[in-house]
Amino acid sequence: MKILVTGGTGYIGSHMVVELLNEGHEVIIIDSLVNSKIEVLNKIQEIAKKTPIFYQENLTDHTALEEIFKNHSFDLVIHFAGLKSVSESVEKPLLYYQNNLASTINLLDCMQNHKIKKIIFSSSATVYGGSNESECIETMPTGQNITNPYGKTKCMIEEILKDVCISDPEFSAIALRYFNPIGNHSSGLIGENPNGIPNNLMPYIMKVAAGELETLSIYGNDYNTPDGTCRRDFIHVVDLAKGHLAAIPALEAPGFKTYNLGTGTPTSVLEMVNTFEKISGRPLPHQFAPRRPGDLAEIWANPSKAERELGWQTKLTIEDAIRDTLTFLENTRKIW
Ligand code: UFG
Repeated sequence: MKILVTGGTGYIGSHMVVELLNEGHEVIIIDSLVNSKIEVLNKIQEIAKKTPIFYQENLTDHTALEEIFKNHSFDLVIHFAGLKSVSESVEKPLLYYQNNLASTINLLDCMQNHKIKKIIFSSSATVYGGSNESECIETMPTGQNITNPYGKTKCMIEEILKDVCISDPEFSAIALRYFNPIGNHSSGLIGENPNGIPNNLMPYIMKVAAGELETLSIYGNDYNTPDGTCRRDFIHVVDLAKGHLAAIPALEAPGFKTYNLGTGTPTSVLEMVNTFEKISGRPLPHQFAPRRPGDLAEIWANPSKAERELGWQTKLTIEDAIRDTLTFLENTRKIW
């Protein structure tokens, strides 16, 4: 199939492109490179021995997007592109609404103009908001008590997709709700490498391990959880990408569908640090710090719908993710 991947040089997008190329699909990437580097394309080529077509464009540029759609007849679209920093979205809400919503609307408009009726959207567990349940299932309400504009854009885009499916009975949209992606391809050639001080746990751990940051602050050790630190459902990014592959056949049935992509098992922040130390064989400097505003004590996926309907479940462990992270770190920079 001929597949458009927006955000295909980003962290999750690049892993998706590798899986698609490995499966023999033809891949066209659109990425603005605002949060990724062009060198990723060479790494993808090195891993998959095939090269995707690449356009450096911003999806907010409707004219440029329309031009690309005129040149290719896509079978389906996988939409990763978007700004994703929770804290930045609180500081710059309009940037997030403008960028994430306008991009998606432009993309859907071009899809409509060119009669492309299948899309997989990169959604997030954040759509469940501050619900009272720690284990999330797709039938739970979404959109309540979401504490940041980034999370709200994910929810709004799901609503937009729902409405497009209602307006066109042949349209099919799948929103995959990711829990906490970590790790990278086992080659260590691609991975997550954010600029500046990371917000997310694993990139922060990586910078401490590389000696670029001194100490990891664990936000809160007084939560009502087994060890007092928050618990999350960390999923290996390669398993996550394979979840998208599994979702492609489900696009044959029109309508809007959602699936959780997670392992179903929570791991605490402290357990993650301890496991990182065990596998790397070195101490990871860390300290307890006050809670981070907006954090939930614990949240994990009930992944049974994806297992039942897509025949997908995770295969890789947190240990695998940490080993792959260490390979990536060795390839990209010195470890402490
Ligand atoms: N944490 C630390 N220290 C750090 C960074 C994180 O202790 O330096 C803790 C957080 O407090 C939290 C846990 O590690 O308890 C995970 O934090 P992340 O920022 O890595 O991930 P979140 O669960 O907060 O957010 C993630 C994605 C969001 C998404 C959300 C949905 O980053 O995009 O899951 O649940 F919206």
